[in-house]
Amino acid sequence: MAYILTLANQKGGVGKTTTAVNLAAFLGKKKKKVLVIDLDPQGNATSGLGIDKGQLESTIYDVMVNDVDIKDTIWESSSDNVSICPTNINLAGAEIELVNVMSREQVLKNAVKSVKNDYDYILIDCPPSLSILTINALTASDGIIIPIQGEYYALEGLTQLVDTINIVKKKLNKNLSILGVVLTMFDRRTQLTRQVQEEVENYFGDKVFSTVIPRNVRLAEAPSHGVAILNYDKHSKGAKAYESLAAEVIKRTK
Ligand SMILES: Nc1ncnc2c1ncn2[C@@H]1O[C@H](COP(=O)(O)OP(=O)(O)OP(=O)(O)O)[C@@H](O)[C@H]1O
Ligand SMILES: [Mg+2]
Repeated sequence: MAYILTLANQKGGVGKTTTAVNLAAFLGKKKKKVLVIDLDPQGNATSGLGIDKGQLESTIYDVMVNDVDIKDTIWESSSDNVSICPTNINLAGAEIELVNVMSREQVLKNAVKSVKNDYDYILIDCPPSLSILTINALTASDGIIIPIQGEYYALEGLTQLVDTINIVKKKLNKNLSILGVVLTMFDRRTQLTRQVQEEVENYFGDKVFSTVIPRNVRLAEAPSHGVAILNYDKHSKGAKAYESLAAEVIKRTK
């Protein structure tokens, strides 16, 4: 059965999608079968894994709102062993359309049941909000990875995220836990990032992964080619970091 893992942080631009795409690619390289579910209407994981958003007949939106079987939305991605359930901007409407749905927090959890046996990992990329979409991801998941960017306001809003996780755990999904916290876009040379690292470690203790993702322009370039870093520059610092993160994730989910 798949281990379901959500990338969440309501703060924008902290590396959720970059981590979802590249972690998936390296899990795939390690012969794990991976499904990425793009739960962000921006669709960055969809295009970053080589899927043209313009040509999609059905997406995660149809799964959640129109009862389409998730199996009928899945594509092979540009990474080996990685499939994707894509999205497009339609998903932005789901928020409103789910308002009157019974157990609207559980829609995704129920939808993934039919594919849980087909994968080793299901990775869910969330939008930068604590909306009903993110709540659905948390309700469907076994674990969460919180990407945190190495910058001055890094810890702002984290209490709210942790509170939300605890509420979901209490009311909707007893199974949920924080698998780990990953520091992203780090520049070890600066005093500030070392200070952020220390603060994050004080707050999350051994939940913090030993792997730190460095700031690396190759990671930012790969999505415009529709591929993960593994297929763009496998010798880059960014690639090595995500390979090491994948190894840690496998170890923690054994
Ligand atoms: N380690 C890195 N080094 C350099 N650039 C990075 C790195 N990680 C992410 N980026 C770039 O930073 C931007 C934000 O990253 P990303 O899209 O992964 O964040 P996000 O949390 O998914 O954003 P959003 O909240 O909008 O969904 C992107 O342009 C991405 O290419
Ligand atoms: Mg994103």
